[in-house]
Amino acid sequence: MCGIVGYIGPQDATPIILNGLKRLEYRGYDSAGLAVLQNSHIEVRRDAGKLARLATLLEESPVHGHVGIGHTRWATHGEPSARNAHPHLGMTGNVVVVHNGIVENFLELRDELIAEGVVFNSETDTEVIVHLIERYLSSEASLPEAVKRALRHLKGAHGIVVLSSREPDKIVAARIGNAGGVVVGIGKGEMYVASDMPAILEHTRQMVFLESRQMAVITQDALSVQSLDGGQVQYEVHQVAWDPIAAEKGEYRHFMRKEIHEQVRSLTETIAGRVDFEKARIRLSELNLTPELAKRIRKIFITACGTASHAGMVGKILIERIARVPVELDIASEFRYRDPILDEDTIVLAISQSGETADTLAAMEEARRKGATLWSIVNVIGSQAMRIADGYISMQTGPEIGVASTKAYTAPLVDLYMLAILLADLRGTLDRKKRRQLIADLLLVPDLVGKCLDREPEVEVVARALMNTSHCLYLGRGINMPTAFEGALKLKEISYIHAEGYAAGEMKHGPIALIDRSMPVVVIAPRDPWYEKMFSQIEQAKSRGGTVIALATDGDELISTVADHVIWLPDTPWMLTPVTTVIPLQMLAYHIAALRGLDVDQPRNLAKSVTVE
Ligand code: F6R
Repeated sequence: MCGIVGYIGPQDATPIILNGLKRLEYRGYDSAGLAVLQNSHIEVRRDAGKLARLATLLEESPVHGHVGIGHTRWATHGEPSARNAHPHLGMTGNVVVVHNGIVENFLELRDELIAEGVVFNSETDTEVIVHLIERYLSSEASLPEAVKRALRHLKGAHGIVVLSSREPDKIVAARIGNAGGVVVGIGKGEMYVASDMPAILEHTRQMVFLESRQMAVITQDALSVQSLDGGQVQYEVHQVAWDPIAAEKGEYRHFMRKEIHEQVRSLTETIAGRVDFEKARIRLSELNLTPELAKRIRKIFITACGTASHAGMVGKILIERIARVPVELDIASEFRYRDPILDEDTIVLAISQSGETADTLAAMEEARRKGATLWSIVNVIGSQAMRIADGYISMQTGPEIGVASTKAYTAPLVDLYMLAILLADLRGTLDRKKRRQLIADLLLVPDLVGKCLDREPEVEVVARALMNTSHCLYLGRGINMPTAFEGALKLKEISYIHAEGYAAGEMKHGPIALIDRSMPVVVIAPRDPWYEKMFSQIEQAKSRGGTVIALATDGDELISTVADHVIWLPDTPWMLTPVTTVIPLQMLAYHIAALRGLDVDQPRNLAKSVTVE
C-alpha cells in the first residue's frame, strides 16, 4: 500500500525520508522515490523495486537538502517503473507531488491538460495533480492557493504532499476523503509529515491528524491548517505514546474501527492496480488465467470459512451473473467430506485472509488430489494458501489486526467482481459496452464506501438503541443475503449478542415465530432487484411488533414510514451493493461492542488465524 513521508528542518532530509519509508515497508509496495530541494533545485530519485534499490540510486547519485518528500507506491495506473514511481515533477521542474488515492476523473483532466499543451511523462493519474498545481502557480497564486485550486478539480479520495522550489520554506499537504490519513509530526524547529504515524514516530510524539478536506501548510517552525472550502482551522495536537502497536492504531481506540475506516484506501488499491482504464480491461496477472483455461472451465467451487465464505457467496452470484459460469459454494470444513466431483476443468477457489486456515488448506489439498486447478484470494503474502495455489489474487488491504474481519471482507468482494469481468471477457461473453459500464461502476466504489463511513454518527445512534438487546435478526435477500450473514457474524463475535443472519424469504418458514417486541430485526433493503420483496419483509416484521432497523438507499421515503430506524446508504450499482451495505453493519457491531466495554480487537475464544481443524 502506498506510503508518504516528508521532512522540513535543519537536518538532512534524505536519510529521514528513507528511514520513514522503511517503517511503512511491511504494507507492501512495488516502487519508491523521493524528491529533495538541493540548492534551490528539486532533485528526484525514484525507481521500481524495493527501498534498497532507491538507497543504491542515492549512493550513486546523492541528494542532500533540508526539505523533502518520499513515497512508496503500489502500482495503480501504470506498471511499476521508474517513470511511474512518485514523486512526480511538473513541466517546469518547480513543483513535485506524492499522492495516495485514485483521481477518478483523471482521463478527463489529462485530456484537458494535453489540450493546454501539457506533456505527460508517466501513465499515472497522479501526474494530473502536479500539472494542475503548475497551472495555478503560473498565474501567480501562492503554492497553498494553487494546491487548493487544483484540488477542486479532483474526484475521489486523496492524500497528497507537495513541494515547490518557488516557495522552498514550506511543504503543503492535504487530505480529501479516506484514501489514507495525513499526519503532521511537530518537532523542535522541524516538522514531519506522513501518511501513517509509524513513519515519523521515532522523531516526535506530537501529532496533528488532518481531517477530510483540510490542507496543512508546514514550515520548519509553524503549522497552519485550513479548510479546503473555507478559512483557518483550529487543530488539536495529540500526544502519542511511544508504543509501536498504539502507533499503528493512530487516532483510533481499536484496530477494528481503524480497519473499517481504512476501506476507502484498501479498496482504492484493490481496484486500481488491476484496471486498465483506457481499454476497460481487468488484469489479474498472478491468477495465471489464460484465454484457453477461461474457455475450458466448466465449474468453479468457492471454498472458505466464516467471513471469507460470505464473500464467496457474493462471488457465486457475481460470477454466475457476469461470466455465466456455474459456481458452487462450500464451507471449507465440509468440502472434502462430501467427496466433491472435480476434474481438470474445474477450478477450486479458496478465499482466506490469513491464508493459513486449516479447514481451507485441507479443502485445497482435496482439490489438488482430485486434479482441479487451484486458485486463492489471500491477504497474507507468502501464506500457505498463496503458495500452494496455481494462481492467486492478493488482497490489497495491508495487515488486518482486529480479529473480526472487515477490510479483508470487502477486498475479496471487489476481487471477485473483477474476476467475474475478466472471466467473461476471456470467454467472449461480455460485450465492450457492458464491460465499460461494469468497470465504470467499479470506480465508484471507494467514494461510495467513504460516504457510508461518513454516516457513522447515525449508526452510533442505532448502536445505543440496541446495546442492551440479547438477540438480533438480520434479513437479506439475493446478493445481500450474505450481507445479513456477515452482519450477524460481526455482531455475535465481538458483542456476544446472539444474532442470526437469514435469507429474508425464509423468515416465514420458521424464524417469524421469534419476532416480538424484544427482537430487533435488521433489514438490508438497498435499491436492488430484490427491493420490493424486502419491503414486504419489513411490513411482516413490523406487524408482529418487531423493531425494524432498515438499511435503505438515500431518498427512499417509503422505508422511513415503516422502519423504526433507517441507516442511509448511497445509491450503489446493485452488483456492488454488498460492499456498501456491510459498512454500516461493521460499524454497528463495533459500536455496540465498544459501548458494552468489550475487548473489540480480541474477542473471547477467537483467533485471527484458525490453524486447527
Ligand atoms: C470473522 C472472521 C472469521 C474468519 C475465518 C476465516 O470476523 O474473521 O470468520 O473469516 O476464520 O479466516 P481466514 O479468512 O483467515 O481463512
